[in-house]
Amino acid sequence: MDQASAFATYPSLKERVVVITGGASGIGESLVQAFAMQHARVVYLDLQEEAGTALAEQIVEAGYPKPSFHQCDLTNIAALQSTLATILQTHGRIDVLVNNAGNDTRHTIEEVTSESWDQSIAVNLKHQFFMCQGVIPSMRAQGRGSIINMSSIGWVIPSTHLPVYVTSKAAIVGMTRTLAHELGPDNIRVNSVMPGAILTDRQRRLWLTDAYKAEVLGRQALKRLLLPEEVARLILFLASDDSSAITNQSYVIDGGWI
Ligand SMILES: NC(=O)c1ccc[n+]([C@@H]2O[C@H](COP(=O)([O-])OP(=O)(O)OC[C@H]3O[C@@H](n4cnc5c(N)ncnc54)[C@H](O)[C@@H]3O)[C@@H](O)[C@H]2O)c1
Repeated sequence: MDQASAFATYPSLKERVVVITGGASGIGESLVQAFAMQHARVVYLDLQEEAGTALAEQIVEAGYPKPSFHQCDLTNIAALQSTLATILQTHGRIDVLVNNAGNDTRHTIEEVTSESWDQSIAVNLKHQFFMCQGVIPSMRAQGRGSIINMSSIGWVIPSTHLPVYVTSKAAIVGMTRTLAHELGPDNIRVNSVMPGAILTDRQRRLWLTDAYKAEVLGRQALKRLLLPEEVARLILFLASDDSSAITNQSYVIDGGWI
């Protein structure tokens, strides 16, 4: 975990109920840690039971409030809705939603079947809408809320080998913009974040060849690989009251790639 003292503290995030999807690993893990370090009441959902449970213990050992982990397959909308109902029952409200979970497994155009299309949309797009739908009543009742949807620069740069993922990431920006206008009258802000190449464990394990690294560093203005905690720090700002006038936007965090 970062040195909390080296970066900003947001007083408005203290005690806020923050729900994060895909929080057990990757950027989501950094989000869980970053919000815990702000003393928010962090709740996170993920498929991975073991990693999710271990992360909560690690945060307690570091001296921060214990976040609450819910094992949930977000492609199962009924399970997502019942998990949200449990969270609302336990915490009474939801202040911040970070729709982070996704899966960038590579696929060719030829490989896509009707079933794999639906599966990819389910893991990259559909749950983001239903999470938003599920938190809106609580945010409306409070007259405020912040929703952050994870997109990607993948739909802007010339991406190949993951067409359904890229389609989902473009759709997330459209969804963000319409929800921002639907929910603005209730003082609920909706923004999205478009990361470039972020060095998570999965990226390191699966895609970080020397050739890919050279391509990334060649494209970026910053000549170093970007870290999950750097994305988390942008999202802290968008979740906090420090960004109270910001909605309907998509923030690129890519070291100057696009
Ligand atoms: N890492 C990058 O370079 C990068 C770049 C652009 C955008 N993004 C986006 O950032 C977000 C996080 O990416 P990441 O790189 O940390 O990915 P990751 O694969 O490292 O982590 C994703 C997390 O989501 C969870 N998850 C996946 N499917 C799930 C499901 N059906 N139900 C519940 N949980 C599920 C996984 O278990 C995992 O913990 C994604 O939306 C991704 O598209 C990442």
